Amino acid sequence: MSDKHLKNVSRRDFLSSAAAVGAGTLAGGAAHAAGDPLILEKQEFAQGLGVGVDETPYGLPISYEKDVVRRNVEWLTADTISSINFTPIHALDGTITPQGCAFERHHSGAIEMSKDEYRLMIHGLVDEPLIFTYADLERFPRVQKTFFLECAANTGMEWAGAQLNGVQFTHGMIHNMEYTGVTLRTLLEEAGIKPEGKWVYVEGHDASSNGRSIPLEKALDDCMIAFKANGEALRMEHGYPVRLVVPGWEGNMWVKWLRRIEVTEIAVESREETSKYTDVLENGIARKWTWEMDAKSVVTSPSPQSPITHGKGPLVITGLAWSGRGAIERVDVSKDGGMTWETARLAAPGQDKALTRFYLDTDWDGSEMLLQSRAMDSEGYVQPTKNELREVRGLNSIYHNNCIQTWHVKENGEAENVEIS
Ligand code: MTE
Ligand code: CO
Repeated sequence: MSDKHLKNVSRRDFLSSAAAVGAGTLAGGAAHAAGDPLILEKQEFAQGLGVGVDETPYGLPISYEKDVVRRNVEWLTADTISSINFTPIHALDGTITPQGCAFERHHSGAIEMSKDEYRLMIHGLVDEPLIFTYADLERFPRVQKTFFLECAANTGMEWAGAQLNGVQFTHGMIHNMEYTGVTLRTLLEEAGIKPEGKWVYVEGHDASSNGRSIPLEKALDDCMIAFKANGEALRMEHGYPVRLVVPGWEGNMWVKWLRRIEVTEIAVESREETSKYTDVLENGIARKWTWEMDAKSVVTSPSPQSPITHGKGPLVITGLAWSGRGAIERVDVSKDGGMTWETARLAAPGQDKALTRFYLDTDWDGSEMLLQSRAMDSEGYVQPTKNELREVRGLNSIYHNNCIQTWHVKENGEAENVEIS
């Protein structure tokens, strides 16, 4: 099986062989090109004038793409304020997530605050407590880098069995943006950290405040105070005007509408004997402070929301891979539920703590597939199967489910979320 699939299909071979096969393939399209009005007749859009440049000062996607939107799952949360929606990753390609369809997660809703109203305070174990306005932040040397943000709950509904029928819902609590801002280190050094300082406690301006403690080592390593994403101001829902970027670590640390940074000796959660986002194990003991997001990948197409509609022949299998511990080095794809694997092509070399796009250009013979992908990162870590993960973590967890996902692609091209034993 694998030999056949490793064969590189050339498009010319395909077109000539497919012409003989006929309909249901690209060549089927070529065949009816003979009398195709889309080729032979002048279309309406070519007969008049188009839209002027003053119509949409801020552009929106064309109406044909209206289904490429965030979606929420009604039964998941009691209301839509303290809730979550999902990135339509089944319909996107490349690696950058446009802000308008990047998932949102709020504990008390998105707040609308202006740059003028914005203040950021640094205090606690510092030489000089400081308050910054938005304009102050813009005067520090800037950095720019792309990182993924994954909510720790991503794929969390799938622990006990295949549940949600779409990659948007199983894996869509993720986005990947190019951030511009200043490093957290720059601001902390401006205030001066006292030798006793070991943690920073960060919180937001929203009612929930989403306070979290981060070890100073991470704060000084690669955290960013970001005010631009993908070149433009952050959207309100992503923390306008300023959010914290905590590369590779679970999304709940990435405080939006960042208001306060307190340098502390021990984590505030330890002081108050509280803990956020724990993982209950099989024996009832809970893990806490599992900040890093382990390597993970998923096939985004074909998938339940992105079925194969063109019949057998050339097929692009594609997906995303990422690791909170480094860069993606390799992604393998299986069509038979993990019995045999083929190494996918990375669209670009994996970047540190950012999404990597993979492709497997294949020749689909029209038979059913159990599609999977398996990521490997620069630490040598290999994404586990669902059963391997359950052996260690049991069934009581919600967070940090990075297991291999299986899509059952049927002969008619439709796909379904399944689990294989
Ligand atoms: N920051 C504040 N201030 N309030 C929040 O509710 N939610 C957190 C984090 N930062 C949250 C917050 C959680 S759980 C996640 S997963 C990410 O923001 C989601 O970021 P996004 O809405 O930009 O996708
Ligand atoms: Co979250």
